[in-house]
Amino acid sequence: MSEANFETDLITLPRFLLDNLKDIKCATGEFTLLLNALQFAFKFISQTIRKAELINLVGLAGHANSTGDEQKKLDVLGDEIFINTMKGSGNVKVLVSEEQDDLIVFKSEGGNYAVCCDPIDGSSNLDAGVSVGTIVSIFRLLPGSTGSIKDVLRSGNEMVAACYAMYGASTHLMLTTGNGVNGFTLDTNLGEFILTQKNLVLPPSREIYSINEGNTKYWDDSIKQYINKLKGEDDVNAKPYSARYIGSMVADMHRTFLYGGLFAYPADSYKSPNGKLRLLYEAFPMAFLVEQAGGKAVNDKGERIMDLTPTHIHDKSSIWLGSKEEVDKYLKHIGKK
Ligand code: AHG
Ligand code: MN
Ligand code: MN
Ligand code: MN
Repeated sequence: MSEANFETDLITLPRFLLDNLKDIKCATGEFTLLLNALQFAFKFISQTIRKAELINLVGLAGHANSTGDEQKKLDVLGDEIFINTMKGSGNVKVLVSEEQDDLIVFKSEGGNYAVCCDPIDGSSNLDAGVSVGTIVSIFRLLPGSTGSIKDVLRSGNEMVAACYAMYGASTHLMLTTGNGVNGFTLDTNLGEFILTQKNLVLPPSREIYSINEGNTKYWDDSIKQYINKLKGEDDVNAKPYSARYIGSMVADMHRTFLYGGLFAYPADSYKSPNGKLRLLYEAFPMAFLVEQAGGKAVNDKGERIMDLTPTHIHDKSSIWLGSKEEVDKYLKHIGKK
């Protein structure tokens, strides 16, 4: 820090990766190049979202994706940006995207990674200018693999890295390579992600719950009881939790990383019998980040998200994640603690 508190020794994402190579499990030059390509995709998507309304990019594209979501124009464009960036990097062999029915295996030579992505998370919020993001999980190809579905139908424990970008008032990037979580903020003048949250630790508890309570009538009784308990309905003296729900997992989780609390999307008997959030590119990467920041992530039954294995690329799961003590409280409620 020099005069007038002006920081002159900034840690950019590339500098951070170089400085920490020895602590990164999957540290190879190729992994660094892959992360470099990822940060370019985040910047490109970020800039596109910021000007969307001015260049006729709001509204629906007119198709649904394989999990039944109506695609927005920006879902399609974000997907294209992501695919082209990963393909162009030469470091990715297999790609799964929320917006693609099947996995993509790039034909070009090289590439030792499989990347799964939600190009735009929270896209129902896009046209209102509310924060959205991009979520990514990364696996190394299985030994000897030249790229197949087996490279992604694996336990969450096999991820080597996960990250998300959140396009809010600023653009934020949260990254784990299995050695804690670090947060970066995009300096739009420099065009660089700058380290702003070193070794982020989730507050161990916080009286905030984040859930789409409009679905209450479709929940199991146990879930209804639990949310009522958080609201203090079974005890006149209890202080009720605060409710916060943005409807973009990335934004709800970004708040949870910084303030603490609980985020959940349980299964319901109507719209989402297996939960709504997709394992490979929503539940897994967020669970990895949350655990690496000292929190927990489980499904409705209390099973650890990271221990699950998808059988299809777009498989969904119920999810409860956030501060350790808040998830433990839910586990206690269902008799798993
Ligand atoms: P996506 O925009 O990638 O399809 O994800 C939407 C997800 C997630 O961002 C959010 O937490 C959840 O859907 C919101 O669902 P509801 O509108 O049913 O609450
Ligand atoms: Mn969608
Ligand atoms: Mn999503
Ligand atoms: Mn999406």
